[in-house]
Amino acid sequence: MTTTASRHDAPAGSFVSPIAWREDALHLLDQRRLPARREEVVCRDVSDVARAIREMVVRGAPAIGITAAYGVALAARERYRSVPGRWREAVEQDLETLAATRPTAVNLFWALRHMRDCLAGLDDDPFPPLLTAAQRLHAADIEANRRMGVLGAALIDPPCAVLTHCNAGALATGGYGTALGVIRAAHEEGRITRVYADETRPWLQGARLTAWELLQDGIDVTLVAEGAAAHLLRQGEVGWIVVGADRIAANGDVANKIGTYGLAVAARFHGVRFMVVAPTSTIDLQTPDGGAIPIENRAQDELLCLDGRRIAAEGAQAWNPVFDVTPAALVDALVTEKGVIEAPAREKVTALFS
Ligand code: MRU
Repeated sequence: MTTTASRHDAPAGSFVSPIAWREDALHLLDQRRLPARREEVVCRDVSDVARAIREMVVRGAPAIGITAAYGVALAARERYRSVPGRWREAVEQDLETLAATRPTAVNLFWALRHMRDCLAGLDDDPFPPLLTAAQRLHAADIEANRRMGVLGAALIDPPCAVLTHCNAGALATGGYGTALGVIRAAHEEGRITRVYADETRPWLQGARLTAWELLQDGIDVTLVAEGAAAHLLRQGEVGWIVVGADRIAANGDVANKIGTYGLAVAARFHGVRFMVVAPTSTIDLQTPDGGAIPIENRAQDELLCLDGRRIAAEGAQAWNPVFDVTPAALVDALVTEKGVIEAPAREKVTALFS
């Protein structure tokens, strides 16, 4: 895996694109370095891809899924060259490696299932058709985000300030974004007076990525510390909280970045509406409710240190779950590319797929 300083291409209408297939390799915008440096990591094989997902070069549920799909194509290219007679079994091991990178975002497993299905029908060189499959998945995600942008923006009555959490933008998807897609569309339609973004401790997706991404598009952003969010909601300016999701259970419970649940509780208390924006690839009908969603715990150092330097008192330990579950009852609207579900519940979520 090598790092270069070249610029990343952007799909039309959205300035930032985190994932690009170029020169026979997968180019990922390195999100660990933003906003200070715009660099990319080039992945030439499946272990590069697995490392990039694990180490958060690329992050955000749909972006992880798309990256893994390209990873399967790279795996097949390598295995077909090195073990032509047994490439299928070898790729199966690579699928396991990719599946073990991050546990919560179900888009990863959804994308791997999709690529495994594509593999099943292939006999000759599997690389060209698998690359095409990954590129289609990538394009379909951008398409879904644009559709959700239109649907979600229509729910926001102007004039309205919104609050978002983490980064559910172009950086977290194939492009354009889920929650930030809605915010982009609503901003374009003049519905939004102000965008507040939580800084999103400990990884600072809000301060580093959401703020940067919105500013690239000329959308002003006001950062708030997580601890300021409930106080902000009490002021009465914010009409909607708009967030993405990493996994939505069959009953409508939503796993998203740690801190989302607290926001939803505060929103209900203050009469602020709560919108979750996610493609159907984020809905997991096999997971009955939020209690069954695996929650990733990451290294203590993400909390104890900042920029590689310890900030916590020596001897202090940290608990670092990076996602939480918001019960469906606290969600006012679930926006997907197939339509909007108001007050999501099991029957409505199932009906979306029928
Ligand atoms: O740990 P991260 O940065 O991968 O977490 C990302 C989030 O929680 C996003 O809100 C979620 O994946 C939705 S992205 C469209």
